[in-house]
Amino acid sequence: MTDLHINTDRLLRELHHLATLTDCPPNTDTTLASPTTAVTRIVFTPRDLEARAYIRTLAEAAGFTLRVDAIGNTFIRFPGTDLTLPAVGTGSHTDAIPHAGMYDGTVGVLGGLEAMRSLKESGFIPKRSIETLMFTSEEPTRFGIGCIGSRLLGGSIDPTTADNLPDRLPETDPQATTGLTLHDVRTAAGFTASLDTVKLPPHYYHAWVELHIEQGPLLEREQIPIGIVTNIAAPASYRYEITGFGGHAGALLMPDRRDALCAAAETILSIEKHTLAANAASGTSDSVATVGTIAVHPGAINSVPSRVTLTLDIRDTDVARRNQIMSALHNDIREIESRRQVTITEQKINADVPAISDPHILATLESICTSNAIPYKKMVARAYHDTNFIAPIAPVAMLFIPCRNGVSHRPDEYATPESIALGTRVLALALAQLTKEVYTS
Ligand code: GLV
Ligand code: MN
Ligand code: MN
Repeated sequence: MTDLHINTDRLLRELHHLATLTDCPPNTDTTLASPTTAVTRIVFTPRDLEARAYIRTLAEAAGFTLRVDAIGNTFIRFPGTDLTLPAVGTGSHTDAIPHAGMYDGTVGVLGGLEAMRSLKESGFIPKRSIETLMFTSEEPTRFGIGCIGSRLLGGSIDPTTADNLPDRLPETDPQATTGLTLHDVRTAAGFTASLDTVKLPPHYYHAWVELHIEQGPLLEREQIPIGIVTNIAAPASYRYEITGFGGHAGALLMPDRRDALCAAAETILSIEKHTLAANAASGTSDSVATVGTIAVHPGAINSVPSRVTLTLDIRDTDVARRNQIMSALHNDIREIESRRQVTITEQKINADVPAISDPHILATLESICTSNAIPYKKMVARAYHDTNFIAPIAPVAMLFIPCRNGVSHRPDEYATPESIALGTRVLALALAQLTKEVYTS
């Protein structure tokens, strides 16, 4: 395997250029270890459209074919010699949450493209086509639910439901919307076809491998260059509205209060308590729960909060355990409602199942690492990924590379050029192998 050359300079140049397509205000966080590019690139904003145009330009320059579907998922194809065979797929996303880093998702898109280019430049001719897919809206920032493009491809969301998702840009209040729907926003951005056309046909992919930064500390801590993902924790998310009774902060006496924010505080602590208890009972750290947004009405220093909205993101490798945490939370919510005389309503945004990697792809990835003397670790993906939603329709796995201090969704997110190059190389070898044409050096 000597003549497969990953062009690391080209790949890094492209990653850095992509990072310039950002809506992030200038970085004022002086706690950051080093100055870095802060990236905000929310789906269907001008920056997202510029990123899409850039990726398309690179794909065309490399001589690959392109298809863009009705939600904007972009398929970059290196055609195989047998077009009747299902393709081998890779890819990730280029959208970024507010004030994020430059590697989350982008390494999987540009790494996938570089893997295909380096295979092509080395003279490799695949039997099955190889495809790099840039998914639309992996991040939930704008429409409140993540992985919209991959959910549509895999059939995990109904096209009408997706089209009716309210636009929540900017997401300062998790209940606030612009009055537009996803359908309005995507058609204004030029993606006008029916979402009914997005779902992939059965057996579209023979195999799927996504390359991504770990977004956690284990690989770096253990000095292992490659993670091979065995399963992806199942995410669920909910929106709560807590309604109490507001009033004057001086005149409304404490015995008469039905403070929505105090009820919200108890709710948040209940979530934390039951998640910690689940970890203690399982002896793992596999249950995680986060309240990441909260909005207080009317939001004045001298007014008792009458209404609070908040969102919960809860994930687990075990759906039954996640459900147990939710039912313990529901018991507490009933008790908080009755004791504090407030109402707490819950709206489910999504409740997904874990993805399990395919044993044959895992074995392929392991044997590539072993035969190239690359240390690896089999591990759980704790962030969610588009691969979760390709899993129902194709055999999948993921490759992780380390990221500095395990940091992600922050401007100081960083992966070394060496890690990116190695991850891309392992990906290229895996794609080549999975096309059933053994790469010959
Ligand atoms: C995706 O970025 C996630 O929240 O896991
Ligand atoms: Mn992310
Ligand atoms: Mn990601």
